[in-house]
Amino acid sequence: MKVSFTLNGRRVEVDVEPNEVLLDVLRLKLGVKSVRRGCERAECGACTVLLDGKPVYSCTVLAPMVDGRTVETVDYLASNGELKPLVEAFVKVGAIQCGFCTPGFLLTAYSLLRRNPQPTVEEVKKAIEGNICRCTGYQKIIEAILLASKLYAEKRSERKEE
Ligand code: FES
Ligand code: FES
Repeated sequence: MKVSFTLNGRRVEVDVEPNEVLLDVLRLKLGVKSVRRGCERAECGACTVLLDGKPVYSCTVLAPMVDGRTVETVDYLASNGELKPLVEAFVKVGAIQCGFCTPGFLLTAYSLLRRNPQPTVEEVKKAIEGNICRCTGYQKIIEAILLASKLYAEKRSERKEE
């Protein structure tokens, strides 16, 4: 069957099997390698993408379910500048080691900061509970998300002054 959806701002149409998951469609059929394959059973968050703006595990979303919807991946949001404050914060704080989990964390954090621009530590912890990092111990990731919240606020106030 064919599904058609908006992927990173572009309409795409692709043949899928009814039981095929979005992760496989993105990586194998559409060449989006920034979406990581981890546990493949909704535990690690490495495969996170935004579906209509909300983070989902692409390893558990059946491809036919995305028909007519919008999917965004980390490379797109990084290339159009949306993730710049988050990326800067992750680098500055040292919240990246092997980096395998990072695309998922960036998208989860981005979604959190869009709906809650000034989260508390507890709210950050709650938001990232579905993402696993085997390297950093989480403390630096939490610090980075809190720093990014400040950087986004600065960006918003610069825009207002222009
Ligand atoms: S690969 Fe999807 S949650 Fe781990
Ligand atoms: S930085 Fe290695 S798994 Fe998170």
